[in-house]
Amino acid sequence: SVMRIDTISIFPEYFAPLHLSLIGKAIDHGLLEVSSHDLREFTHDRHRSVDDTPYGGGAGMVMKPEPWGEALDSILEQLPSPRRRPVLVVPTPSGRPFTQHAAAELAGAEHLVFACGRYEGIDHRVLDWADEHFELHELSLGDYVLNGGEVAALAMIEAIVRLVPGVIGNPDSLVEESYSASTRGMLEYPVYTKPSQWRGLEVPGVLLSGDHGAVDAWRALRSREITAARRPDLLDQESPDRP
Ligand code: ADE
Repeated sequence: SVMRIDTISIFPEYFAPLHLSLIGKAIDHGLLEVSSHDLREFTHDRHRSVDDTPYGGGAGMVMKPEPWGEALDSILEQLPSPRRRPVLVVPTPSGRPFTQHAAAELAGAEHLVFACGRYEGIDHRVLDWADEHFELHELSLGDYVLNGGEVAALAMIEAIVRLVPGVIGNPDSLVEESYSASTRGMLEYPVYTKPSQWRGLEVPGVLLSGDHGAVDAWRALRSREITAARRPDLLDQESPDRP
């Protein structure tokens, strides 16, 4: 059945690129519905304000609860009656890590809502309230700070949607890639295509040998070397926390 994604943000234009490429095709083919909402549509004051100074003091601004409450209400009101709680993803650097495993789990959801905050964050009562009405996931894209949740949401949406059945033309291309179980949680080996010589550089001979056993052994070795150099934390995982 069709997956629905709503985004809520003060910059709904950030989500325009979802209509390009693979995700755009999934929308065109009716596998996916995407709707981007402007948080300021849920304000009532002349200045359409969405932020205010933090109780307790400190630098920066905090997103006011009322526009978020009304925006989330409007999404709940649009639901076709008896249904499971929608998933609410709140991208935040203080969230749990967004991993391939998380992407695969969220790819099974019927309805995902992304609440993208700016400034120093959203009034925490919004999260407490939302936890009662949604399946709440506070998720971080990585250990760095972005200006807001929009770019994180775009990355998460792309990682999730490409795992929805029918979105990727050739499902085999999902199998061997980095972080999947078939490389046992290790990074991908390097790849080559024609021509076999380019600017004086040659394709490794084993890949031209036609010996599939030797090719597999070489790829496993290179995966291991690259993983040891770049991500030693991923080596020798008994059961990788990934699909
Ligand atoms: N918002 C700001 N920084 C972020 C991050 N690293 N991950 C998710 N959302 C964010």
